[in-house]
Amino acid sequence: MDTISDYSLHIKNIIITEQEIKEAVARTGKLIDEMYDGTPILLVSILKGAFIFLADLARAVTVPCEIAFMAAKSYYSGTESTENVSVTLDIDRDISGYNVIIVEDIIDTGRTLKKIAEMLRQRDPFSLKIITLLDKPSRRAVDFSADISLFTIDDLFVIGYGLDLDEKFRNLPYIAEYQE
Ligand code: IMP
Ligand code: MG
Repeated sequence: MDTISDYSLHIKNIIITEQEIKEAVARTGKLIDEMYDGTPILLVSILKGAFIFLADLARAVTVPCEIAFMAAKSYYSGTESTENVSVTLDIDRDISGYNVIIVEDIIDTGRTLKKIAEMLRQRDPFSLKIITLLDKPSRRAVDFSADISLFTIDDLFVIGYGLDLDEKFRNLPYIAEYQE
């Protein structure tokens, strides 16, 4: 177990502040309201990284909204992703006929979301869109892009606002660059 001072030494610098996140989430909520214009949506969040983003985004929309969770594993340890993506928790319901929005924390290589989007598309949703808090386009290994991305960032390993390094730092209220 790290001591508190060891822990904070890993926070290199804040790249997106709490206020910037708040404003971007509010704008995105309004955009969703306009896009769906009163029709119900199903927000599908990918655990665990997107749990904080989902909680804030869900409260920023006013259209009727349901929530479901999936979990996928692509990072096994450290900051390097592996080729294999496994879905470890699937949605517990039928999504056919729903306006589904996948809510993700970050698109890095794109492998996780490509797999999940393909899975969900086969289940015949009325519509399917992808919203990501962060996008690292320079890291893409497969052809994939989100419909809405709140922040585009450089090739940095980031922590906070749901994102972790070995399960730590998810509770930081901002996005910071991780310091080895
Ligand atoms: P992808 O399949 O390579 O796009 O990886 C997506 C997943 O890797 C994300 O959902 C995150 O869980 C994790 N990930 C990618 N980049 C970072 C990062 O900079 N910090 C923390 N987790 C990351
Ligand atoms: Mg994730």
